[in-house]
Amino acid sequence: MKLLFIFGPNLNLLGEREIEIYGGMSFAELTKLITEEAHREGVEVEIFQSNHEGEIIDCIHQKRKEIDGIVINPGAYTHYSIAIRDALKAVALPTLEVHLSNVHAREEFRHHSVIAPVCWGQITGLGAWGYLLAIRAFLLARGKS
Ligand code: DQA
Repeated sequence: MKLLFIFGPNLNLLGEREIEIYGGMSFAELTKLITEEAHREGVEVEIFQSNHEGEIIDCIHQKRKEIDGIVINPGAYTHYSIAIRDALKAVALPTLEVHLSNVHAREEFRHHSVIAPVCWGQITGLGAWGYLLAIRAFLLARGKS
């Protein structure tokens, strides 16, 4: 099984950005945690981060035939990118939306996701664990765990 992890804008600044909300783990540390957990479970991972909507869409298009599922944290694009939503709908792969913070406990504009309706599920507010749970969910769906 191969999963594509997509990180949207500003997530490259994890560890220095709003630490009280996102925690002190850097982006490099988070991706290491994801990669190590995935490999322990025999899952291949590809990790992509971009601050640009079009690059995220290109990545979804380019990788669509090589992967079994997507784990996406679209960052602020969560709340308004119809284009990323359409790309996910178009490739029709099982997708989990993950947020480090609990978007429902924050500003009103973060309560709505335009991405969630085209996803298999959403994990929000569990920090880095959300990514580990996303891997677990794909394994459970495959009947491997
Ligand atoms: C986020 C929540 C979004 O509202 C925000 O714009 C982000 C990060 C999260 O992981 O909690 O950039 O997706």
